[in-house]
Amino acid sequence: MVCFSCFSPGGNGERRIEIENGTRSGSRQSADSAGSGRGKDSDDNVNGKGKATLKDTEGNSTRCSGARSFTFLELAAATRGFREVNLIGEGGFGRVYKGRLETGEVVAIKQLDHDGVQGFKEFLVEVLMLSLLHHSKLVTLIGYCTDGDQRLLVYEYMPMGSLEDHLFDLEPKKEPLSWNTRIKVAVGAALGLEHLHCKANPPVIYRDLKSANILLDNDFNPKLSDFGLAKLGPVGDNTHVSTRVMGTYGYCAPEYAMSGKLTLKSDIYSFGVVLLELITGRRAIDCSKKQGEQNLIAWSRPFLRDRRKFTQLVDPLLQGRFPVRCLHHAIAITAMCLQEQPTFRPLIGDVVVALEYLSSQSNSYEVHNSRIHSSLPRSSSKQDSDIFSRESDYRRSATSV
Ligand SMILES: Nc1ncnc2c1ncn2[C@@H]1O[C@H](COP(=O)(O)OP(=O)(O)OP(=O)(O)O)[C@@H](O)[C@H]1O
Ligand SMILES: [Mg+2]
Repeated sequence: MVCFSCFSPGGNGERRIEIENGTRSGSRQSADSAGSGRGKDSDDNVNGKGKATLKDTEGNSTRCSGARSFTFLELAAATRGFREVNLIGEGGFGRVYKGRLETGEVVAIKQLDHDGVQGFKEFLVEVLMLSLLHHSKLVTLIGYCTDGDQRLLVYEYMPMGSLEDHLFDLEPKKEPLSWNTRIKVAVGAALGLEHLHCKANPPVIYRDLKSANILLDNDFNPKLSDFGLAKLGPVGDNTHVSTRVMGTYGYCAPEYAMSGKLTLKSDIYSFGVVLLELITGRRAIDCSKKQGEQNLIAWSRPFLRDRRKFTQLVDPLLQGRFPVRCLHHAIAITAMCLQEQPTFRPLIGDVVVALEYLSSQSNSYEVHNSRIHSSLPRSSSKQDSDIFSRESDYRRSATSV
């Protein structure tokens, strides 16, 4: 088993992560379900030494592998004094800047907001988790800075930003994600989650799966980011971890939101919400929509129950360019992940297998479709692109899902 030994940023390992009220877009929400000043959550990984260290199975301390320590001056130079022009995003933790290190490497630098509500503990957990967990579908932590009261994280730069940037509120000129790219993102995110659930020992519960935390490279390969809320999963005979409820409104599993009982299945529910966002192009929570449409899960329920209505769920920006058979599979997987009862939700390994099959089916649809495109006069292409979403295809697929 791996356990954490830690360091304290300002000597205050007991600092509680305060409650954020969720008014800012993409912000997290937490609630102290234990009702006490210091939830069980504010404990385990912080105890105050000075450098990030880990203990291995024999209890020997080792320095965090991979991530290096930067001075504040190095990171100020990399971002040219944290100039606005280099600002690429902002979340509950603070601002994110694009920067270039002395080596020439382009990076993303996240600076903890001093007035921020998500704090030092998340910073620490992030450094420790990403130092332990290396995988092609998890963002790489290049380093961190703990000069004085500064707390910064240095990541590999993901040029396409987050999945959220490509799904919602698109500028008219921006190309929407194709069906195949959506499935590719789903497969990659599932592989990242599989690494946390199945390869890490003990398993890691991510707790913050959402489209804003799925970052994309130039080829739309996804990587999971933001591990500040991650928890080590239950071990031995324990069925769950009891913790303060933290995460992002709209993505939290119902049993976790209500009782604070956290399991790997809580992540599966959040994954189901992301799948639904990929299919519909709608945000998990969207206050700009009219009453009844603001909560994606509630809005989608009647459509998910009736396969004749499945196509009405689909993002209109896809303009019918998706194989209906694959849509049915995708919805079946989504509905399983969103089961109210956690035990009925699938394991991530099964989700990966199902999505990889779906991906191969979607790819052959694209190959088939592009062959038809190239053999037809150009003017016919729009008409043809809808070929798989016609009623006849729907009827065929409806019987086979
Ligand atoms: N490694 C990175 N490479 C490129 N862009 C990044 C990187 N990390 C973050 N960003 C950008 O910065 C934005 C803000 O990220 P951040 O993780 O701080 O907040 P968030 O995930 O939107 O919200 P929250 O803090 O509630 O999780 C992201 O949406 C993304 O566009
Ligand atoms: Mg994030």
